[in-house]
Amino acid sequence: MFFIVSLLFLPHLLRANAENCDFFQGSWVFDEPYPTYNSSICPFIEKEFNCLRNGRPDHLYLKYRWQPQGCDLAKFDGRAFLQKFRGKSILFAGDSLTRDQYMSLACLLYTSVPGTNYNMTREGLISTLKFLDYGLTLILDRNAFLVDLVPEKIGVVLKLDSVAGSEKLWSGHDLLAFNTWHWWGYKGAQQPWKYIQIGTRLLKDMDRMVAFETALETWAKWVDTNVDPAKTTVFFLGVSPSHYKGSDWNQPQVKNCAGQTRPLPGPTYPGVLPPALAVQKKVLSEMRVPVKLLDITTLSQLRVDAHPSFYGAATAAADCTHWCIAGLPDTWNQLLYNLLY
Ligand SMILES: *[C@@H]1O[C@H](CO)[C@@H](O)[C@H](O)[C@H]1NC(C)=O
Ligand SMILES: *[C@@H]1O[C@H](CO)[C@@H](O)[C@H](O)[C@H]1NC(C)=O
Repeated sequence: MFFIVSLLFLPHLLRANAENCDFFQGSWVFDEPYPTYNSSICPFIEKEFNCLRNGRPDHLYLKYRWQPQGCDLAKFDGRAFLQKFRGKSILFAGDSLTRDQYMSLACLLYTSVPGTNYNMTREGLISTLKFLDYGLTLILDRNAFLVDLVPEKIGVVLKLDSVAGSEKLWSGHDLLAFNTWHWWGYKGAQQPWKYIQIGTRLLKDMDRMVAFETALETWAKWVDTNVDPAKTTVFFLGVSPSHYKGSDWNQPQVKNCAGQTRPLPGPTYPGVLPPALAVQKKVLSEMRVPVKLLDITTLSQLRVDAHPSFYGAATAAADCTHWCIAGLPDTWNQLLYNLLY
């Protein structure tokens, strides 16, 4: 009898604890009904994330559910989301990890009402997806640094103290989801700027972590000045980890994520947390507008199996930076969904 009563009450206890629950501490559990949707009916997945279509042979990676330690997450309910955001506008701005998250959200919504009318258009770096039956607009701003990157006579300038080029695009939405980090470390041929500018100072280079923090503060100031938290919910996607060094997860013999078919056990990751995450947390903690951090670093570090590797955009090099869709970004969006309410 005692056992039956305990079992009956357990879900309530879990829910009762939800307020103090850290959604981002937990482990991945095998869950046979996963994935929650059939990605082959989602029309929005770019080739580099479309692992199944690209022939990825192992499918176990699709079958894991994130289980926080002290509570349960609500399932992502696409229809409820579409109702809640009927007639509204959502903007994602960030690098290709944000693009990953954006496409996952588009698929989560579309597959909840397959066949619903949509219109997807792209102009330059901006994609706009309209769910016509709901009047919901999802915008993607491909914007790796968030601060302005401006082609000038002297070359491309990264302006750490300006988001003037984005202000108009970022204004007037009901939900904003930002991210930046990945591109701040690039040097040489991969670095897309020639100079860094702060005020009137033009620099050839500087400490990248300081540059990153300066830019984040510029972004934060814009949000604090321009966003009305009563109308707009703001999210920030934390550092999405890459897997190019097996010694980070106690497999020193492997050099990347290729061939990984299941998550690491957790709840902790053997490697360190990226220092950029501490910078993000610091800047967010000093803001006036509450910004919800999707603190997905550790839970994503555990997913050595969830990258496209050779089943992404190219087959020459393993992509251990992005994530397959369906896959891990669906959990990022499930966490976003749980933090909305
Ligand atoms: C997913 O959808 C495709 C296309 O409609 C279909 O052929 C396939 O059987 C579906 N897969 C599952 C697991 O339902
Ligand atoms: C889709 O959007 C484009 C650009 O706004 C517009 O020209 C076109 O008429 C739209 N199509 C539908 C079916 O709404």
